[in-house]
Amino acid sequence: MTVDAAGNLRALYAAAESPAPRMVLGSHLDTVPNAGAYDGVLGVVMAVALLESLGGRRLPFAIEVVGFSEEEGVRFGIPFIGSRALVGRLDDELLDRKDANGISVRTAITNFGLNPAEIPRAMLSHDAIAYLEFHIEQGPVLASLGRSLGAVDAIAAQTRMECEFLGRANHAGTTPMHLRHDALAAAAEWIVAVECTAHNQPGLVATVAQIAAKPGASNVIAAEVRVTLDVRYKSDDIRDRALGYLVQQAQEIAERRGLTLGQNVLLSQRAVAMDPYLIDQIQEAIRSTGCQPHRMTSGAGHDAMILAEKTPAAMIFLRSPGGISHDPAESVEVEDVAKALECGLHLLDQLASSSEFQKRMCRA
Ligand code: GLV
Ligand code: MN
Ligand code: MN
Repeated sequence: MTVDAAGNLRALYAAAESPAPRMVLGSHLDTVPNAGAYDGVLGVVMAVALLESLGGRRLPFAIEVVGFSEEEGVRFGIPFIGSRALVGRLDDELLDRKDANGISVRTAITNFGLNPAEIPRAMLSHDAIAYLEFHIEQGPVLASLGRSLGAVDAIAAQTRMECEFLGRANHAGTTPMHLRHDALAAAAEWIVAVECTAHNQPGLVATVAQIAAKPGASNVIAAEVRVTLDVRYKSDDIRDRALGYLVQQAQEIAERRGLTLGQNVLLSQRAVAMDPYLIDQIQEAIRSTGCQPHRMTSGAGHDAMILAEKTPAAMIFLRSPGGISHDPAESVEVEDVAKALECGLHLLDQLASSSEFQKRMCRA
């Protein structure tokens, strides 16, 4: 096993003969604050368990397992840092991005004992022919249908940004209400507008989940308020339109209250389709386990949407009991994990004997 310069753990299971193209299996190792135990790491463990289930049997293609270092974007506000390194998108701008303590991604990598100058060597190998990710669904769809496994057909578009309402600090006791430029009240008005907008567009989700107010004393009117915004929809056009409308609302609220607005887009990720051939193969492999597959769009972002820039990508979802994720109550059913493993083995065998996959291997 090796650790690349972006902190991704990587290991290679050799093919029956070499040289041979490789299939990449992976998911992420990091998680969110107060998280559950399965988001991300289950997919890494599934990949390792799948290799173990092969019992030493070699396939016509190698399998590289990757445990991605930083998918959630918690520390630096920008997600997919690990997987971006594999597609050549961990650039200087991202490396210079700082966390709340002023430590840049570049410094964090160096402090961890890795060399940012070696990031180009983390690039996905040119002989990669597919990326597959097992992941918990993180929502209620499979559980509501009583199905164990899903085949992801696309991953929703998402934008993450920060907005800053800039007003004026003043004395909370002496400043009459009509003479205030209260940044926190403006942010509060906008947060409710964000929620209303998403309620009015079926399928749109919009979330303000972080807020920081300065100077932060109970007897001082807030002068600066920074809030995050996360907007997602299954297609780019509606996501873009909703985002434009929300920013316009923030501007109107700020103007009406005599404030100014700052904005900084941290992530604008287009909706990404999974590979149709791999989706069909996954559905067939799910059926071979005796389960009924369900095709679905993922509202959560995944490393698969980054890897899809360079290689055909696909995902297998495992039912999330109660539809809970990003919370300690997140769980999986042991039987679903067993079915997913069985499905993975069927999939590898199907691909090993598929003429389409042979063609893809020859082209690699
Ligand atoms: C990943 O967990 C995401 O927020 O989409
Ligand atoms: Mn997550
Ligand atoms: Mn995840």
